[in-house]
Amino acid sequence: MVARHTWLLPPVLAVCLAAALLAADASAPLHLEALLAFKKGVTADPLGALSNWTAGAGDAVRGGVPRHCNWTGVACDGAGRVTSIQLLQTQLQGALTPFLGNISTLQLLDLTENGFTGAIPPQLGRLGELQQLILTENSFAGGIPRELGDLGNLQLLDLTTNTLTGVIPSSLCNCSAMWALGLGINNLTGQLPACIGDLDKLQIFSAFINNLDGELPPSFAKLTQMKSLDLSTNKLSGSIPPEIGNFSHLWILQLLENRFSGPIPSALGRCKNLTLLNIYSNRFTGAIPRELGELVNLEALRLYDNALSSEIPSSLGRCTKLLSLGLSMNQLTGSIPPELGELRSLQTLTLHDNRLTGTVPLSLTNLVNLTYLSLSNNSLSGPLPENIGALRNLGKLIIHSNSLSGPIPASITNCTLLSNASMSSNELTGHLPAGLGQLQGLVFFSVGNNSLNGSIPKDLLDCVNLRTLVLASNNFTGGLW
Ligand SMILES: *[C@@H]1O[C@H](CO)[C@@H](O)[C@H](O)[C@H]1NC(C)=O
Ligand SMILES: *[C@@H]1O[C@H](CO)[C@@H](O)[C@H](O)[C@H]1NC(C)=O
Ligand SMILES: *[C@@H]1O[C@H](CO)[C@@H](O)[C@H](O)[C@H]1NC(C)=O
Ligand SMILES: *[C@@H]1O[C@H](CO)[C@@H](O)[C@H](O)[C@H]1NC(C)=O
Ligand SMILES: *[C@@H]1O[C@H](CO)[C@@H](O)[C@H](O)[C@H]1NC(C)=O
Ligand SMILES: *[C@@H]1O[C@H](CO)[C@@H](O)[C@H](O)[C@H]1NC(C)=O
Ligand SMILES: *[C@@H]1O[C@H](CO)[C@@H](O)[C@H](O)[C@H]1NC(C)=O
Ligand SMILES: *[C@@H]1O[C@H](CO)[C@@H](O)[C@H](O)[C@H]1NC(C)=O
Ligand SMILES: *[C@@H]1O[C@H](CO)[C@@H](O)[C@H](O)[C@H]1NC(C)=O
Ligand SMILES: *[C@@H]1O[C@H](CO)[C@@H](O)[C@H](O)[C@H]1NC(C)=O
Ligand SMILES: *[C@@H]1O[C@H](CO)[C@@H](O)[C@H](O)[C@H]1NC(C)=O
Ligand SMILES: *[C@@H]1O[C@H](CO)[C@@H](O)[C@H](O)[C@H]1NC(C)=O
Repeated sequence: MVARHTWLLPPVLAVCLAAALLAADASAPLHLEALLAFKKGVTADPLGALSNWTAGAGDAVRGGVPRHCNWTGVACDGAGRVTSIQLLQTQLQGALTPFLGNISTLQLLDLTENGFTGAIPPQLGRLGELQQLILTENSFAGGIPRELGDLGNLQLLDLTTNTLTGVIPSSLCNCSAMWALGLGINNLTGQLPACIGDLDKLQIFSAFINNLDGELPPSFAKLTQMKSLDLSTNKLSGSIPPEIGNFSHLWILQLLENRFSGPIPSALGRCKNLTLLNIYSNRFTGAIPRELGELVNLEALRLYDNALSSEIPSSLGRCTKLLSLGLSMNQLTGSIPPELGELRSLQTLTLHDNRLTGTVPLSLTNLVNLTYLSLSNNSLSGPLPENIGALRNLGKLIIHSNSLSGPIPASITNCTLLSNASMSSNELTGHLPAGLGQLQGLVFFSVGNNSLNGSIPKDLLDCVNLRTLVLASNNFTGGLW
């Protein structure tokens, strides 16, 4: 009995080993055929990426690692079965062969930045082991095959930058392992699939620059693992659901250039990790939520070109990592909160085309890294801060069409990087300061339609780059040199 047992075990192992070798043996010709079909589909290979994809005498040898496992960009598992094909930036042109669907052990297919055209073969849906499918930066056309929804192990699908058309197939909702989905820069149409919330592991979702329309489906609220969401430049409408406040990992939210409407949800203030909140050029109404001041990691907050009609909440002064704050082209009222002077990293502050009143806060001169300040077309009054010259990095000072009064501060001559000073249509008085000639980068200088007087300083002539000089409708005396 004992003897029989000890005799029995080894054959079991032997059978396992044989099975593994047999699997390789069985798959090798099929994989070789598929790889050769891949090569045959390639019509141009200017870099010779596939030059050693050649079948040879050695291929017939049994028991060893198949030679195609050694071809450029091909990798196999220990049993000699192809698990990965990676051919990045190899300038391959042609069509992708349906035979790839026969490499059932394939886990990774990455053809980033090539010139593949034609359809994505639906047969790829047979690659049950596939974890990553990356076809970004090619010219694949036609629809996203419904069959890709059969890829139960797919974690990453990146089809960004192709010429794909049609809708996002709802079958993709079956790819329950998916954490990254990239569909940007194509010509996809229709709505996001109603079942999108089934992808509950999704962390990265981008579909920017397409023709998607409709509203975010209710199930969208379930995508709470989201870290980066970019649906910019589509025709999406409806409102942002308040449940977005549950996306606690959210780091990047870009919904710019769509038709979103309704309020900006105050719940966004709970997404403390947000660094980028770009939702400009939509149809948002109502208030800038005070709660956005909780977003202390924000580096860019761009809400411009909407129909927001509140005051600017002073709480924004707490977002001290902000580099860019864009609130222009809305219907914002009230005055500019002095707390914005706390945003010392700020490089861009645009508040133009609103209904702001009050004075320009002196605190803004703390923003020494500011390169672009635009306050034009509001109802701001009072003088410009005398030490505006503290903004020594300022390149553009756009303050035209307000009711600003008093003199142009002499310190402006310390803004030596100034290229555009647009100050027309205000109520500025006094003389143009001496020393404007120091502004060697000045291209555009407009002070028309003010109440400036005195003579026109000769050193403006030293601004050798000046192309536009507008002095009209003032009370200058003397001649133009
Ligand atoms: C793979 O290529 C290397 C060097 O190019 C060679 O040493 C090795 O024997 C090759 N293996 C197979 C299975 O062809
Ligand atoms: C094919 O080229 C790659 C990269 O140069 C090399 O690593 C590989 O060994 C070559 N394979 C064969 C079969 O010559
Ligand atoms: C391999 O793929 C081709 C193209 O999809 C198909 O016609 C053929 O039946 C497949 N072979 C096997 C064994 O699955
Ligand atoms: C998801 O898979 C199931 C089972 O395979 C299938 O019945 C269903 O139709 C699929 N859903 C979609 C949206 O394709
Ligand atoms: C995208 O699709 C729309 C409508 O389906 C069409 O009008 C437009 O020309 C397409 N754009 C490109 C770049 O293919
Ligand atoms: C998600 O957000 C909604 C609305 O903000 C809230 O009522 C709900 O409790 C949140 N769910 C979870 C799981 O946090
Ligand atoms: C926020 O970001 C930090 C740093 O990247 C990270 O350690 C933390 O886990 C994130 N928090 C959430 C809720 O994702
Ligand atoms: C201003 O910019 C400089 C140079 O980019 C940087 O080193 C500095 O930290 C910035 N200042 C603030 C307050 O962010
Ligand atoms: C001034 O701003 C308002 C918004 O407050 C806008 O409607 C109008 O077009 C702007 N005027 C100019 C000349 O840009
Ligand atoms: C320009 O800056 C220097 C150094 O900060 C300062 O001494 C000077 O008074 C400033 N000039 C004007 C006109 O404000
Ligand atoms: C300067 O700014 C004004 C107002 O925004 C704009 O009209 C003009 O084109 C700008 N000029 C240059 C050279 O940037
Ligand atoms: C221009 O100057 C004249 C003479 O000093 C004065 O009468 C007139 O009110 C001034 N006009 C403006 C618009 O300041």
